[in-house]
Amino acid sequence: MKNHTIQHAVIASILSVTASSWAQTSVGLGRADYRDNCASCHGASAKGDGPLRSFLVKQPSDLTTISQRNGGKFPQELMWEVIDGRWSGDGGPHGSREMPVWGSEFKARAMTQPGDSSRTAEWSSRNRIVSLLKYLETIQQP
Ligand code: HEC
Repeated sequence: MKNHTIQHAVIASILSVTASSWAQTSVGLGRADYRDNCASCHGASAKGDGPLRSFLVKQPSDLTTISQRNGGKFPQELMWEVIDGRWSGDGGPHGSREMPVWGSEFKARAMTQPGDSSRTAEWSSRNRIVSLLKYLETIQQP
């Protein structure tokens, strides 16, 4: 439990640093990234009805009801943790996951860009996740 609290504090600080020092995040980028990387499982409308659904053991979550299921507030830090995935790991609080570990995935993709160092790739990965969070927040059902 204690570890979990510390982990949340770390994620909160990453989130605020990332969001304030990099203006390169936006709902539009998140929407495009969602369509390219997430819609296959979660569906174009994010209701959890993407074409890959039938190949998965766990059903992809309905991403429009995240706030509804969390007391009416979008849990930014928790969703960061779930999407990034490097914080939870296989045996982590979310059990064995079928969600790709996007923190590593986005970073690995950035590393293939010429001139991208591990550090800039890390930022690029974080920015993409912040943009995704911004987009997901806009599609929450009241
Ligand atoms: C290979 C299929 C697949 C892809 C691709 C995928 N997801 Fe998921 N996602 C899942 C599954 C299955 C779950 C259900 C929980 C689990 O597996 O632990 C989930 C859960 C989630 C959750 C937790 C929702 C909640 O209510 O707790 C979020 C947020 C999420 N995905 C976001 C994304 C985003 C953003 C992307 C794209 C960058 C993405 N997912 C791509 C399969 C996928």
